[in-house]
Amino acid sequence: MLFALQNIFVAGTDTSAATLVWAMTYLMKHPRVMKKVQEEIRSLVGGKKSFVDEDDVQELHYHKAVVKETMRLQPPVPLLVPKETIEKCTIDGYEIPAKTLVYVNAWAIGRDPEAWENPEEFNPERFIDRSIDFKGQNFELIPFGAGRRICPGMHLGTANVELALANLLYKFDWEMPPGMKNQDLDFDVLAGIAVHKKNYLFLLAKAMSM
Ligand code: HEM
Repeated sequence: MLFALQNIFVAGTDTSAATLVWAMTYLMKHPRVMKKVQEEIRSLVGGKKSFVDEDDVQELHYHKAVVKETMRLQPPVPLLVPKETIEKCTIDGYEIPAKTLVYVNAWAIGRDPEAWENPEEFNPERFIDRSIDFKGQNFELIPFGAGRRICPGMHLGTANVELALANLLYKFDWEMPPGMKNQDLDFDVLAGIAVHKKNYLFLLAKAMSM
């Protein structure tokens, strides 16, 4: 029981934390997107209350697109969890014997030029007015996996990230530390089951004047 709880805790916190850092990194790299998403949040919530709540988040379509775009480019579990085939099968002409260890490369799928226009570009607009989602129905976007082993914490994980990020963007304006420019930001990764940013993201938070 303790082991199961530990697994759920690690699977649930590490992945959300990694996603939050990647989202802030992309937003700092792309001031146009940062401005647009902050405007969306502040025009919905600004002046009315001191924090963004779960109901507000459902109205924040561009903000949700920012989270999707972050997970497309930087899925926190890029190779999902390895699986073993239980019987021989053929995929795309390739014969896969039984008991083969199979990895699904969600990172590469999210950047596949056959599935995505300008795949390397951080462009949340690609999700606006499109029904594509990461709930396991659209195989080009599978940061939570798909099928019977899809992440059981998907909704909690998404809510965690969307809510925390919305509040960070609502309450603060973000700047690079003195002597650093956003061009200095890198996307180097620290290998692990959940992939984190290798170099810490240092930012200055300035409280938004209300
Ligand atoms: C942004 C947040 C999260 C991401 C990106 C994420 C991603 C994933 C991925 C890719 C898998 C493997 C799916 C597969 O191999 O097909 C997985 C499995 C799992 N996740 Fe998450 N996860 C997140 C949050 C959470 C949360 C909040 C919980 C629990 C509270 C959780 C619990 C689990 C568990 C228990 C498994 C193993 C499921 C199984 O093997 O059947 N995850 N997650």
